[in-house]
Amino acid sequence: MALSAVVRILHFSDVHVDVPAARIPLADWFGKRLVGGANHALRRARHFRSSREKLAQLAQFAQAEGADLAVCTGDLTILGTEPELEAAAAAVAPFAERPLGLVAIPGNHDVYLPDSVREQRFEKHFGKYLGNDVPALAGPEGWPRVRLFGADVAVVTVRSARPNPAVWRSSGRIEDRELDALRAAVSDPRLEGRFVMIATHYAPRREDGTPDRWTHGLENADALLGVLSTVRWGCLVHGHIHRRFRLDLPGLRAPVLGAGSATQEGREGFWWIEVEGGEAYATPGFHDGRGYRLERDARALVGRAAGLG
Ligand SMILES: [Fe+2]
Ligand SMILES: [Fe+2]
Repeated sequence: MALSAVVRILHFSDVHVDVPAARIPLADWFGKRLVGGANHALRRARHFRSSREKLAQLAQFAQAEGADLAVCTGDLTILGTEPELEAAAAAVAPFAERPLGLVAIPGNHDVYLPDSVREQRFEKHFGKYLGNDVPALAGPEGWPRVRLFGADVAVVTVRSARPNPAVWRSSGRIEDRELDALRAAVSDPRLEGRFVMIATHYAPRREDGTPDRWTHGLENADALLGVLSTVRWGCLVHGHIHRRFRLDLPGLRAPVLGAGSATQEGREGFWWIEVEGGEAYATPGFHDGRGYRLERDARALVGRAAGLG
């Protein structure tokens, strides 16, 4: 494979940008949007009070560190309403100015109820970050989507979030046909020799390596890990669990990197991934109370391309 320039990727997630409840249309509160569930979700808002300011800080950090690409794995909003998606799109717009742009996929809060999906609200505000460079690899519903960056990187986005009208449930699932297409895509010759980053909202495992609760986790997590086991050089990046962590699971060459939430008060985290010369490294990032920083001592190998041992 060609040894080319470094590609620096900022992976962040779960920024949960909200707007004052009064700005959410009444039609969203009656019938369609369950007030009980909404109250529960809005209680979270106090943890995300400064999401917009923090996103501005993170974008400045990305620029100062020379990020080439930003990848956001969902939960950009709290209730998936039009005003929230509009505010979130404005807040993440600076990341699209990175040389290779921004890739963003929906989380369960962005497709909170069926109305969000029916009206294609996420596509309306984030469609420009949902591109596909190899449409032939998508399943019948247009996913997964493969983005090719330079000669060395492929980002493969997968939908795992869906509306959960029941208040007590926030689980996810990857449609079987999308998973079949993902399985074929990661071993497609067009991705050969590239660092393959699979990006989805849901975590296949918790921080301790155990499956998540059935009311909160990814229903077909094992099937996703089965696909990941076929990736020789790459990683899986996700959000949903608001803690940044890395898992190196037995039998898998590609680690699982959970970004946590980039903006939740006191828990801010993200990943900084560098791909260069057939090697990839991941460095955890945090917020020190004034701004975002890298935990440089914790920089660790993600993997090496075939032939590099
Ligand atoms: Fe979240
Ligand atoms: Fe989530």
